Amino acid sequence: MITARAHTNIALVKYWGKKDQNLILPQTDSLSLTLNEFYADTSVEFRDDLAADHIEIDDRVVTGHAANKVINFLNIIRKMSGEKRYANVISTNHVPVSAGLASSASAFAALATAASKAAGLDLNRRDLSRLARQGSGSATRSIYGGLVEWHRGTDDLTSFAEPIMEKVDFGIEMIALLLNTSKKKVSSRQGMQSSVETSPYYPAWHKVVAHDMLAMKRAISNQDIDQIGHIAEENALRMHALTLSADPGYTYFNGETIRAIQAINDLRSQGISCYYTMDAGPNVKVIYNRKNRSKIIDYLGKLFGQEKLIVSKPGPGVKIINK
Ligand code: DP6
Repeated sequence: MITARAHTNIALVKYWGKKDQNLILPQTDSLSLTLNEFYADTSVEFRDDLAADHIEIDDRVVTGHAANKVINFLNIIRKMSGEKRYANVISTNHVPVSAGLASSASAFAALATAASKAAGLDLNRRDLSRLARQGSGSATRSIYGGLVEWHRGTDDLTSFAEPIMEKVDFGIEMIALLLNTSKKKVSSRQGMQSSVETSPYYPAWHKVVAHDMLAMKRAISNQDIDQIGHIAEENALRMHALTLSADPGYTYFNGETIRAIQAINDLRSQGISCYYTMDAGPNVKVIYNRKNRSKIIDYLGKLFGQEKLIVSKPGPGVKIINK
C-alpha cells in the first residue's frame, strides 16, 4: 500500500470555467493558498484478487457517480503505467469537524500521488500536477504547498501548477467559517459550465483574472496581506457574479453568507483588517494577518459560535507518508 497526504487549497484568484471538459483545461489561470489544517490521506494498492476497483472514503464504500470519477481517474493511471490490475483505494479526510470543506482538491492530489506510485510510475511534481488536474481542476494546485499558481496552458502538457512561495511565513492565515456543511445543490462542475455558456459577463471574467493574477503576484512579492485580501475578495465577488448572471441564475450564498460578509465589513470599519472569499458553497473563508487573529475570533465567535471557526495556517505540498 502506498499512502499519500495532500492538503486542500483555497483560491485567491479563482478558477471558474473549463475550455476542455475532458482534460480539464481551464479558461483562465488561478492562484491559491494551500492550507495546513485540512487534508486527505489516501492509500492505494493494485491487487491480483480484485474483480473491480474498491473505493472507501471515510470508512464507507463508495459507489455510483463518485466511484466512477475515481475509476476513470485510475483508468488514466493504468493507461500510463501498463498496470492491468484493479485497485483498493482507502481515503480519509482530516478536517477538524465535519466541515464540508473536504474538497476534491486534496482528494485527487492525494489519489494521483498514491496511485501513480502504486502503479510503478515515478512522476515529478509537474507531472503529478498535470495528472491531478484530470481528476479535479483545483487538485492541480494541491500538489504544492503555500502560494501556488496554475498556468491554464493550451493542452495537457502545458496546463500545470507551480509554486510561487512554498514556505509562507509572513503572517497570512485563514479562518474557515462553517455556516453550512450539507452537500451543495449545484456542483462546481455544473455551475462553472453554466457560467461559461450562459453568463453575458463571462468575457469580462478573462480580463478580471488577467489583471488579478498580476496584481496578486505583486502583492505576494511585497508580502502585503491587505492587498492580497482585497484582491481575493474582489475576485471572489466577481466569480459569484458569474453564478447570479447565468441562465438560470443561481447562487452558492445563503443568508448566513451575507451575514458573515457584513460582519467582516464591520470588523474592517472598526480598523481590524480582514477579507473574505467564498467558493462553491455558503461557507466563508476569512483572510487576515495573524496579529489580528484573536480580535477576529472574538467578534465572529460571538456572532456565529466559536465552534464554527477553524483557524488554518499555510500548509505543505503532497507527500508520500509511508514507503
Ligand atoms: C470555486 O476543482 O471542484 O473552488 O475541475 O470540475 O473538479 P472541477 O472543479 P473544482 O472547482 C473549484 C472551483 C472553486 C475555485 C477554485 O478552487 O479555483
